[in-house]
Amino acid sequence: MGPETDTSRMSDTIHVLNGPNLNLLGTREPEVYGRATLADVAELCRAEAGRHGLQVVFRQTNSEGTLVDYIHEARGARGIVLNAGAYTHTSIALADAVAGVGVPMIEVHLSNVFAREPFRHQSFLSPVAKGVICGFGPQSYVLAIAAFAQMAASP
Ligand code: DQA
Repeated sequence: MGPETDTSRMSDTIHVLNGPNLNLLGTREPEVYGRATLADVAELCRAEAGRHGLQVVFRQTNSEGTLVDYIHEARGARGIVLNAGAYTHTSIALADAVAGVGVPMIEVHLSNVFAREPFRHQSFLSPVAKGVICGFGPQSYVLAIAAFAQMAASP
């Protein structure tokens, strides 16, 4: 088993990072984002991670700079699940942070951004993402965690 297939030294922690307005989930435009709260999403993430023997660090901020700091603090983690909210469509700083830490990142969105306004079709994060999952509500996060678990099993 070469070093790239030896998962024994791999971190078992996934950082799930949430950007602006996601603290309002549950009451924010429920016709778009559903009724689940961010605490509900965190619970689903912890349950899915637990099924794969993984841990979750779950964080939310409304500030772009703090999100950059959270990405830096994920250095050494197994992966980052990132819902950067509207910063997805505007932030070179977040893309640079992801590229800078060298941790695989999966971009997630609750809504199907491609079925919405044209300004949501552009993402500065997709070019530095391992993959993108959108449109499945809170299950977008669960699928991303399952993908990280699967990637470790057969990278
Ligand atoms: C979002 C989609 C973004 O366009 C929007 O700005 C959000 C939420 C989603 O999860 O569907 O804040 O990232």
